[in-house]
Amino acid sequence: MNVQSFIGKTPLVELSTFDVPAGVRIFAKAEFMNPGGSIKDRIVRYILDDAEHRGLLRPGATIVENTSGNTGAAIAMMAATRGYRAILTMPDKVSKEKQDALRAMGAEVIVCPTSVPPESDKHYVTCARRIHAETRGSFMLNQYDNPLNAEAHFRSTGPEIWEELGRSVTAFVASGSTGGTISGTSRFLKSKNPSVTSVLLDPVGSIYHRYFHEGVVDSSQIAPYFVEGAGEDHLAKCMDFSVVDDVIQFTDADAFATCQHLARREGLVCGGTSGANVWGAVQVARSLTGPAAVVTVLPDSGSKYISKIYNQDWLMQNGFTVDRKTAPEATT
Ligand SMILES: Cc1ncc(COP(=O)(O)O)c(C=O)c1O
Repeated sequence: MNVQSFIGKTPLVELSTFDVPAGVRIFAKAEFMNPGGSIKDRIVRYILDDAEHRGLLRPGATIVENTSGNTGAAIAMMAATRGYRAILTMPDKVSKEKQDALRAMGAEVIVCPTSVPPESDKHYVTCARRIHAETRGSFMLNQYDNPLNAEAHFRSTGPEIWEELGRSVTAFVASGSTGGTISGTSRFLKSKNPSVTSVLLDPVGSIYHRYFHEGVVDSSQIAPYFVEGAGEDHLAKCMDFSVVDDVIQFTDADAFATCQHLARREGLVCGGTSGANVWGAVQVARSLTGPAAVVTVLPDSGSKYISKIYNQDWLMQNGFTVDRKTAPEATT
């Protein structure tokens, strides 16, 4: 069996060190254990299988995609094993570790400025579209607007959670960028039990929170933040708010403090969105009375962010208060 056979069926870990009401349990799917290192393996395999099946992706073709890194890692892994060329565009806030991992698997990486408006031709999404248009026979997954992205979660992430917890699931909580995870997983869980609550976590600086609550895309709210892989500066078609019951905002500080807690108390060294997701799961858990189960995902590993989230100097330089009981030791 090649590496792609090991995508999905990730462990569901119970988190027991957070202060939540009696009888309220928090579970997290360890998506960083997918072979490409993230939750994105699921959607990339699903979309490429479909494209091959429909003859949209022919042997030796080029796959082009805009990606904050994890979709790119999954594409690079599958391009390497299936014999495709991969060209990946990403914003320059993506960590060097992530960029280099893609190059290691033979992908071409094009780094674009983060601080340009979505309509700029330097924006990483526009850049990928241009390369796709200019490269004959190329295939673009189009993860932001492709319904197969959410469908992959409807067919894998949702059923796996249901198989393990069934009717005990009270709420599913996750941050979103393309919206594939929250939309597909929530849609599946609600199809089994309509009373499951779905909560999207949105970083301060992203548009989704205001859009959900007030129906307005407010570009004046777009602001930089450090967490990689959550929130957006444009509305992704894949984000299906009809299966989302609430959107709550988090800050980088919420996410990173929770990452420290997960590492120090649960032995889980995870990426920033995992910290955000667990922070959100704890907020939702605190609003419930037991018995209840709140489920989230740990989308990628902290090994991709060692020089940032797990480096005390970086944390302090960027204005994050470091809790000495839970934070990593200072290096200087
Ligand atoms: C680290 C990380 N977490 C979470 C997400 C959000 O997932 P989705 O695109 O399914 O909304 C992404 C997406 O890029 C990601 O890279």
